[in-house]
Amino acid sequence: MLNIIILAAGSGKRMQSKIPKVLHTLAGRPMLEYVIESARNLNPNSITIVLGHEADVVKSCIDHNDLNIVLQESQLGTAHAVMCATSMISFRNNKDSTTLILYGDVPLVSVSTLRSLLDSCCGGMSILTSISDNPYGYGRIIRDNVGNIVQIVEHKEASQEQISIREINAGIIAIHTEKLKQWISMIFNNNEQKEYYLTDLVKIAVNNSVIVNSVLPKYSWEVFGINDHRQQANIERIYQYEQAKNYMLKGLTLSDPRRFDVRGSLKFGRDVFIDVGCIFEGLVELGDDVRIGPYCILRDVTVAENVLIEAYSHVSNTIVESNVVIGPFAKICKSSYIKSKSKIGNFVEIKNTSFGNSSKANHLAYIGDSEIGSNVNIGAGVVTCNYNGANKFRTIIEDNAFIGSGSQLIAPIKIGNSATIGAGTTLTDDAPADQLTIARSRQKTIVNWKRPKKN
Ligand code: UD1
Ligand code: CA
Repeated sequence: MLNIIILAAGSGKRMQSKIPKVLHTLAGRPMLEYVIESARNLNPNSITIVLGHEADVVKSCIDHNDLNIVLQESQLGTAHAVMCATSMISFRNNKDSTTLILYGDVPLVSVSTLRSLLDSCCGGMSILTSISDNPYGYGRIIRDNVGNIVQIVEHKEASQEQISIREINAGIIAIHTEKLKQWISMIFNNNEQKEYYLTDLVKIAVNNSVIVNSVLPKYSWEVFGINDHRQQANIERIYQYEQAKNYMLKGLTLSDPRRFDVRGSLKFGRDVFIDVGCIFEGLVELGDDVRIGPYCILRDVTVAENVLIEAYSHVSNTIVESNVVIGPFAKICKSSYIKSKSKIGNFVEIKNTSFGNSSKANHLAYIGDSEIGSNVNIGAGVVTCNYNGANKFRTIIEDNAFIGSGSQLIAPIKIGNSATIGAGTTLTDDAPADQLTIARSRQKTIVNWKRPKKN
């Protein structure tokens, strides 16, 4: 029988933020979600999460249907937090029950590391430790001369000699549930911080002649905690680099795996190339032979094969069919649908628009709330005037139409099949098929006109 307790009540003072620490993000998701996900992957009998600081905010940001939630009104320390949770843990009728304690601010511990920690508990107690080149802030593991763990000393309480110890406490503990219930009430707050330290369980175990086992994680970064924004950024880069390496093993070409961010899920076909500095959010799917230039942002986008997205383009909530060219500097958003072989060029914005096969808007245009047929050519500087300050209206452009540069299309409006709109037209009524429609005043030259002189 396995019960899991997740500690997440602290305010995270060192983050200097109004947002509770465990909601600060890693790859776009609250760090706490990673801990809850790992806990679920162990299929425990119960997961109890201890909330305190801004408990309601934290609760509203996580999926907690299958979790017991316990409130720690004032944050008196990690042992006090566990004490608040023990009432939720039943071990009756099961003498072999184990409790695993996870910290909400240690998000990257792998499930396999947690499994080996549980295996090493053996009805007693086991802790996750790590050898660190930068142990600053972590509890230090004190061992006796035969190597048995005798104590954990918090950084703030450590002597000069203890400070130099490189073996640190990850905070994660597996312990026989009955022992936890007995020992947790034996912890006092007689230390520098006047806090109830969970790490004092070690001393109690030793006093009860229980050997405390320990396990090292596969990767040292698994145990990194997030207490301030430096640690957050460090873990973000580690996480992103690990993702990048996995994607590369699956066939993705990245020009620099250290300048690549996925905050969600990325699927890709064969021979996909991604240049530096791109960000992928939500669900992104890229077909075979897709190439993405530097500094693009794609959020909730499906891109079919052989599409080229050039530098600095932002594409969101959009479906892109095959052989399309986008950018550089294009913005496409809000349920747009870009059909095959079309071209959306530089400084073109497409919003809530279906853009037909082989159509082109090569430069400087705004196409919003529109249905564009196939083989349509939209000149430079064309703007759909889709908003009258109160409501939005649609523009329909049928197949093979040609819209001259610098035209304004005042929606609602329809331009017929193979219509031509003369450059600089302000179109206020529908334009018929096959005809040239033009609306601009005739050019005139005023002879003998003189520029005014300055007084
Ligand atoms: C803790 C450990 C330290 C370890 C480090 C690993 C203790 C006393 N120290 O220190 O040995 O090296 O983690 O990252 O356990 N929390 C509560 N209620 C409280 C206090 C804390 O729920 O009253 C939660 C926090 O929200 C956090 C976790 O417990 O998720 C750890 O608390 P934190 O204050 O960050 O402990 P550290 O100083 O990092
Ligand atoms: Ca911490």
